[in-house]
Amino acid sequence: MSKQADKSTNTVWHRATVTRQRREQKNAHKSAVLWFTGLSGSGKSTLAHAVEEQLHQNGLNTFVLDGDNVRHGLCSDLGFSDKDRKENIRRISETAKLLLEAGVITLTAFISPFKAERAIARSLMPHGDFIEIHCFCPLQVCEQRDVKGLYKKARQGEIKDFTGISSPYEEPENPELKIDTHQLNLEQSVQQVISLLRDRNILSIQE
Ligand code: ADX
Repeated sequence: MSKQADKSTNTVWHRATVTRQRREQKNAHKSAVLWFTGLSGSGKSTLAHAVEEQLHQNGLNTFVLDGDNVRHGLCSDLGFSDKDRKENIRRISETAKLLLEAGVITLTAFISPFKAERAIARSLMPHGDFIEIHCFCPLQVCEQRDVKGLYKKARQGEIKDFTGISSPYEEPENPELKIDTHQLNLEQSVQQVISLLRDRNILSIQE
């Protein structure tokens, strides 16, 4: 939805006294949005949940927004047309932004196939807080695995607008991290993400 379509006029922003910074101090770590993007079956959800598990075990505050789950609730009215995918990503971006303000390390696992929507999501967050992680796995490998049996259905024409088959996936050009999920095992992929968070000083508050 563009700014022009914004119908919430006559509203005034209320400035919170409990700020993101105070929440981060209390949590003793920074917040960030880890935006996992990639084809269906590329390992986004598995990786996001495994990273979350490790962070949680270390006492950090985390939350995963997962495509299949969110489409059961917040986005259950949306399908897979370009228009609906854009709206899906818009809602997720705004939700992730709220969680960022809440001091939470937020991990989103959505195909998010369009560059433009990922760029909008990035532009909503303060510079450096949006970390794009491309889960790269060739289409043939995703299709061969076909964990949910959806690629077969898409090939048979039972599912329309299927990403990689009958709907585009625009690869990120400059993601903060590209993980070859077909070549690395889960533990190696998790470590790549954790190293990045460490390098960016997200896992602790500098004195
Ligand atoms: S997105 O394109 O809007 O970002 P999202 O990540 O929410 O997609 O949902 C993708 C998941 O929905 C896939 O992992 C798959 O399980 C399921 N799905 C159902 N229909 C489709 C479709 N036409 N294209 C892609 N994924 C689909």
